[in-house]
Amino acid sequence: MTKRRPSRATSTEVDLEGVRRALLAWFRRGHRDMPWRKTRDPYAIWVSEIMLQQTRVETVRTYYERWMARLPTVRSLAEAPLDEVLSLWSGLGYYARARNLKAAAEVLVAKDGGVFPRDPARIGELPGIGPYTAGAISSIAFDLPEPILDGNVARILSRIFLVDAPAEAASTKAALWTLARSLVPARGAGDFNQAMMELGATVCVPRDPACLTCPVAAQCKARAAGRQVELPRKKQKRATPTVAQLALLVRAGERVLLARRPARGLWGGLWEPPCLPMEEEADPRAAARSRYGVKLLDVSALQTFTHELTHRRYLFQALTARSAPVVSLRDESGAYEELRWFSPKELGGLGLSAWASRLLDAKNDAPLRRARNERR
Ligand code: ADE
Repeated sequence: MTKRRPSRATSTEVDLEGVRRALLAWFRRGHRDMPWRKTRDPYAIWVSEIMLQQTRVETVRTYYERWMARLPTVRSLAEAPLDEVLSLWSGLGYYARARNLKAAAEVLVAKDGGVFPRDPARIGELPGIGPYTAGAISSIAFDLPEPILDGNVARILSRIFLVDAPAEAASTKAALWTLARSLVPARGAGDFNQAMMELGATVCVPRDPACLTCPVAAQCKARAAGRQVELPRKKQKRATPTVAQLALLVRAGERVLLARRPARGLWGGLWEPPCLPMEEEADPRAAARSRYGVKLLDVSALQTFTHELTHRRYLFQALTARSAPVVSLRDESGAYEELRWFSPKELGGLGLSAWASRLLDAKNDAPLRRARNERR
């Protein structure tokens, strides 16, 4: 007998018709009053949708009414001087939106006698109109069953269908578009899409969704799993790569061995205890000898610490050791410009990287630290 695998979350588990009915009834019972919701004129809806990109509803209201009073048709927009168009837009920001509106109106006048097309594909070809806006105009103005997907809708769908994948990823977006298309009703698509917009703005909000008043709480898989606040999942941050190094704090009598980094690049021109890549940890003595010509004695572990940069994390394992005062220091690794022994007195005036400075202080080497502090 074959064992059945636990069922996976698929759209078939959500009552699509239940979601449609509940959302439409909720929207039709009462929604926020907006001037562009009183018309089915595709031109007016287009203007409102472009204004509503990156701009709050309350801000758009007055701009929209002023614009429609001055430029009520596709043709009036096509024929208006660009300066006038831009002055009507002034204050809304992202002026390419206004320029694209005018450019698209000119295309429509030149090709279609100023008539706004019904075909969603043709709408989507106009300057400044992406898939979301094409879906919004097609559904609201022509009641075509076209889906929309923006951040609000992605959040709602991620929650209803429990889409546990980063919403920004191309594959997730494709899946969300498919879900949006499967959900949009054959009739009433305009109201349904606006209900989604409304729900995203007022109920299914990012941080603290109002599930108690949500019309689709009963159908929401994230709510059933108690995971609505986690979704949509954020893009995974790429793990910061770690560079692991051994830092050699080598003394010859009172003197300490330091290496100067090349002038260009990270910590350029600064001095630090010479380092070895951690993979050579197995035998730091041999590595120190072949790379720097130093024979280490009495090696012991001092401390481990990290140093965080924006794109990289350094993990240092500091080792202390003694050495004979080698005169023929060399650097076979190419990592450094120079290696030298420094007396405690000389250290105070040196340019040291932050981690090297901390390490030298932390070594609890009283004469060394005193000399550095005196020179600060
Ligand atoms: N955001 C984008 N389009 C909208 C619309 N038609 N109503 C409310 N908010 C919106």
